[in-house]
This record gives sequence, C-alpha cells and structure tokens, in this order.
Amino acid sequence: MSDANEARKKRGYAMRLNRATRWSALTACLAAVLLVAACNDSTLPKPPKPAQPPMPKTTAAPVLVTNGMAADAPSATASSANGGTAENTLSERITRGKYLARAADCAACHTSANGAPFAGGVPLKSPYGTFYGTNITPDKTNGIGGWTADDFYRALHDGMAPNQALYPAMPYTSYRQMTRADSDAIYAYLMSVKPAAVPNRKHDLSFPYNVRFGMRVWDWMFLKDTLPDASKGQSADWLRGRYLANALGHCAECHTPRGTFGQLDGAKPLGGAALARISAPDLTPDALAARGWTVKDLQTFFGTGIAPQGSAFGEMYPVVHLSTQYLTPDDLRALSTYLLGDAPPAPTPLPDRPDTLQLKAGRNLYLAVCAGCHAADGTGKPHVAVAMLGNSTVRQKDPRNLVVAILDGIEPQSFPGREAMQDMPGFARQLTDAQIAELSNYLRVAYGAQAGDVNSEIVRQLRQK
Ligand code: HEC
Ligand code: HEC
Ligand code: HEC
Repeated sequence: MSDANEARKKRGYAMRLNRATRWSALTACLAAVLLVAACNDSTLPKPPKPAQPPMPKTTAAPVLVTNGMAADAPSATASSANGGTAENTLSERITRGKYLARAADCAACHTSANGAPFAGGVPLKSPYGTFYGTNITPDKTNGIGGWTADDFYRALHDGMAPNQALYPAMPYTSYRQMTRADSDAIYAYLMSVKPAAVPNRKHDLSFPYNVRFGMRVWDWMFLKDTLPDASKGQSADWLRGRYLANALGHCAECHTPRGTFGQLDGAKPLGGAALARISAPDLTPDALAARGWTVKDLQTFFGTGIAPQGSAFGEMYPVVHLSTQYLTPDDLRALSTYLLGDAPPAPTPLPDRPDTLQLKAGRNLYLAVCAGCHAADGTGKPHVAVAMLGNSTVRQKDPRNLVVAILDGIEPQSFPGREAMQDMPGFARQLTDAQIAELSNYLRVAYGAQAGDVNSEIVRQLRQK
C-alpha cells in the first residue's frame, strides 16, 4: 500500500458543525438558496472579484534552499512571484510545483486509497453529506486536461470551476492566498502527471447542500482575501511561515473554529476546533507554549511526526505524512516560527512534584495497563511508545483527545526515517467509564499539570459518539 493510501485510511476530514447549529444552518441556507432562485441574474450576488491577494513578501524571494535532505525540494534559484526570472525551464517549474502541491497537501483529498495519483475519489465526510475529491489529472474527459492555467487559478482563488461554483470542501478559502506564480507551478506539475481515466463520483449531499448555486451566496458572504494572523511577527521566516500555514498548508481549515454556516471564525484564528472524533488543538502562541512547545520541537514534529511532546495522530497524521515531512528545513523553521511568533513565549515547565496522593486508583491502573509501553515514570520507550510526561495531549485543558486516545487507541503508523511504533490499543472494552476517568485524572495531574476534573459522564459521552 502506498503512503497516501495508508494515511487515507485514517483520514476523517470533517467540516465541523454540531447538531444544534446544523439546523439553523440548514434553514438559513435554504433561505439563501431560495433567495438566489428568486433572483434573476442581474441581482445575483457575485462572488468577490478575483483580486490579487496581498503577496507575502517572502514568496518574491523564497527562503527555500536546497540542502540535499529533501530530494524534491525546489532549487534556491526557483523564484516565484516576481515574474519568474530565475525559473527558466518548465522542468524547474514542475519540480517546484510538486513541492508546492505537497506543501498544500492536494493529495490528501485528491489521491484515493489504491488509486492513481490525483485521480480523485477520496471520501470526505461532513455534516452536509459526503464529498468526493475530484480527478485533477490531465485527463481530458474526467480530469482537468482541458483547463487553462487561468481556469486553474480561478478554482484555487475563487472556488470557481469553468462550469460551476465549487464547494468549500475544496479549501479555496485558504488557497485564495496563494500567489499566481505558485498556482501556475502546481498547474504545470499536475499537467505533467499521468492522465487517469477515472470518472468523478457524485457527491452524496442532502438538500439544500446539493444545490450548488448556494455556494455563490456563501462565497459572497464569507470568502475573504486574507486570513487573520494567529501570532505576531515580521521576520522573513515569519512571513514565509504565514504563507506556508495559511495559503498552502490550510492549517486553519481544521484548527480554526467555524461559525454557523461552516465559515472560519475570523475572531479565533487557529484557536482550536472539534473535528469528527478528536479535536484540532489551539495553536496560538500562548497555548502552544503552555503545552511546552518550542520552535525547535515544532520543527521536529512537522518533519518527523514525533517530538518530545508526543506523536501526530488522528487527522494530523496524514498532514505530516503527506505534506509537512517534505518541507525543507528552512520551511519547517518558518512554519514553526509563524506559529509561535517572532517573540515566542517561553515554554511552561512542568512542576517537579505534582501531588498525586488522591489519585492512587488511577496510578495503579496506569501501572497495570499503560506502563508496559509508556514506562512506569511516564517517560516512554524508544521505538515502543511516546512519553506521557509532558505529552501535549495530556497537557491540553480539554481532556477530549486524551480520553478518545484511550478509548479508541491509535492504528499502527509509520513515521519518516523508518521510525515505527506499535499501534496503541484501544481500551473501550477493557476499562469502565469510571476507570478511564481515574486514569485520565492521574495522567493530567502527574504528567500534564492539568486539573483532575474528568468524570465518568465526560467519558460516557465520548464513548457514545
Ligand atoms: C480538504 C480536501 C481538499 C484539498 C486539501 C484539496 N482539494 Fe481540490 N477539491 C476538493 C473537493 C471536495 C473538490 C470538489 C468540489 C466540488 O465539487 O465543488 C475539489 C475540487 C478541485 C478542483 C476542481 C476540479 C473540477 O473538476 O471541477 C481542482 C482544480 C482542485 N480541487 C485542485 C486542488 C489542488 C491543486 C489542491 C492542492 C493545492 C487541492 N485541490 C486540495 C477537496 C480538496
Ligand atoms: C502496546 C503499547 C501501548 C499501550 C499498552 C498503551 N499505549 Fe498509549 N501509545 C502507544 C503508542 C505506540 C503511541 C503512539 C502511537 C502513534 O502515534 O503512532 C501511544 C499514544 C498514546 C497517546 C497519544 C499521545 C501521543 O502523543 O501520541 C495517549 C494519550 C496514550 N497513548 C495513552 C495511553 C494510556 C493512558 C494507556 C493505558 C490505558 C496506553 N496509552 C497504553 C502505545 C501504547
Ligand atoms: C485535517 C485536519 C488538520 C489539518 C489540515 C491540520 N491539522 Fe494539525 N492537528 C489536527 C488534529 C486532529 C490534531 C490533534 C492530534 C495530534 O496531536 O496529533 C492536530 C495537532 C497538531 C499539532 C500538535 C498540537 C499539540 O499540542 O499536540 C500541531 C503543532 C499542529 N497540529 C499543527 C498544524 C499545522 C501547522 C497545520 C498546517 C500545516 C495543521 N496542523 C493542519 C488536525 C489538522
């Protein structure tokens, strides 16, 4: 099985809306759709003009450097936004396009399990129904072989295909920030891959979401030219990192909470959001520092999937696996710098001797069922399991990911550099709600400096989801 396939299995790409907001969204959407249907063309709200996004300065002078480690990294001479003086040949552009397509993780949604690269068919579950990533190979009938570079840019930038408005399940809200030169490079790369005669699957959406027209209203209401920043900075690294996070990596699509209509909440950039099962944690500088993250450790995490703070799992695993592991060291540093800002807050140290006297039952459970892999002192075991001591999942205020990891376990994952760990078994059957609560509280207090405030009810709710 290819890397992409393996990662795909784990993917539960979800647009997030809880049940309560779904109904109001449904009603409002219905109203919007009816409004559009009632309008004639001249009154139809137009999607925003294809304005050039404010170009991050660094894309004009990319911080990319070839270093021999990332084989597919573009050469340092491959300039992007300023007319492409240094990018002489088509093959250079294709190489850069491949790098950018990885940084933007197009494969995540367009290359399916056991499928040809970019031939589509990846199911993307959402509260509105299931979307399927489309065929974006140069096949003339099924793919985008008939598209021009202009058409392609319009799809990334405005969410408009030549014949129809796209659903924001395709993250053009983020790709809108991409430069024209980078869009052209990705286009050149995609046109160079093998055409695949794989027909597109019809999305399986409920009314009114199956009415594409509504998307133009959505664009008109919510499509913004920029995304708000989650940190402060102005260095070249920070600017490049902003471009990597916002325009390419579309980190906000999972890590920023959404409003009633599924739009990104501009007031809480990267503030954390619940996905289908686990949540994408708060990535703002203070929150990262409170969980012990430094620029160096974030680089390690994005480059290898494993850091002293733990491993990437759930929806984050394919992000590392298909995308960030291929970033050059310079880009890894830039991305990490953007998250923590130019003046990163100091990581919060763990207390020396947390008081766990009241948590004996939890401690005994830990020793009985977890310590074999995670070690009796919580420091983990190389090539077996990550540390619990200082683990960022244990250090989250919201116990959700910790409890879900214990309930569900984590499928076997392979990591770059031939690192592999065992799978983490799920304990849903073996342990009761009360036991999982006791265990979680022990971990939170002993290894995470969090309150021991998990109760059986919290576990019960997560078990039922
Ligand atoms: C989070 C999932 C996701 C990611 C990541 C993603 N796409 Fe898409 N894309 C989709 C979905 C879903 C559609 C279909 C949307 C629709 O039918 O309205 C789509 C549609 C498209 C289309 C229109 C194709 C057509 O036939 O109409 C193009 C072009 C495209 N994507 C290119 C890309 C490129 C290039 C990237 C990377 C830079 C990318 N996509 C990343 C989900 C994604
Ligand atoms: C058979 C070995 C094994 C046992 C037993 C085990 N774990 Fe794990 N655990 C792992 C491995 C391996 C990972 C990392 C998986 C990955 O990311 O691929 C992990 C990951 C985790 C994580 C997610 C944190 C992270 O950074 O990846 C938590 C939380 C966790 N374990 C808690 C527990 C608790 C609590 C118990 C006891 C109920 C337990 N584990 C028992 C092997 C184990
Ligand atoms: C498809 C959804 C998704 C996307 C896209 C995504 N993430 Fe995540 N991310 C998650 C989830 C879920 C977790 C929690 C699991 C874990 O810790 O590995 C997570 C965890 C993380 C963590 C670890 C936080 C901690 O304290 O444990 C970091 C750092 C992170 N993401 C950064 C990013 C960056 C930077 C990007 C963009 C390049 C990104 N993520 C894109 C879903 C996503």
